[in-house]
Amino acid sequence: MSEHDDPYDRSGQFLDLMIATWWEHNGATVAEALKDLPADAGPVVDAGAGGGRGTGLIARTLPDAHVLAVEPSLLLRSVLLARVFEDPDLRTRVSVDGDDLLAARLPDRIGGLVAANLIGHLGPHERDRLWGTWLPAWHRGRSRCSTCPRRSNRSMWRAPG
Ligand SMILES: C[S@@+](CC[C@H](N)C(=O)[O-])C[C@H]1O[C@@H](n2cnc3c(N)ncnc32)[C@H](O)[C@@H]1O
Repeated sequence: MSEHDDPYDRSGQFLDLMIATWWEHNGATVAEALKDLPADAGPVVDAGAGGGRGTGLIARTLPDAHVLAVEPSLLLRSVLLARVFEDPDLRTRVSVDGDDLLAARLPDRIGGLVAANLIGHLGPHERDRLWGTWLPAWHRGRSRCSTCPRRSNRSMWRAPG
């Protein structure tokens, strides 16, 4: 597991509560973006999964998918692990990786990637590295990426199939 300078080491105790309203408002849009992902394209990555509200939504939207939740913050990961463990369905379909996204072990291909409320944490060079590292896996999985859902779908990309 890589070193991670955690911006949530104190405020993380409130993150799951504070972000609940964001998911109430945007959850349906995220689900809409995910719902037609092919089930056999590889795991769907929840990048910077926080306490796992998005992880649960991905799993509910794609009942046959495996979800890889990447969360480097120890504090937030403990909320995530508790949420996953409490749900017998999530327990069988969610893997949790505690690495920084830029150091995480990559599956050969992925079915999709949700990066909800994450990209603002990454500087320009880190974003370049993210696209460079993960894009080939998206292409192999013919997947879709959403960084910030909007009704217009402008911030969602589908890799060429
Ligand atoms: C605002 S929270 C959003 C959490 C979750 N995606 C949600 O919307 O409920 C940002 C998350 O990104 C994570 N994060 C920040 N930098 C990261 C990085 N380099 N790699 C992976 N996750 C990161 C934080 O630990 C935190 O969980």
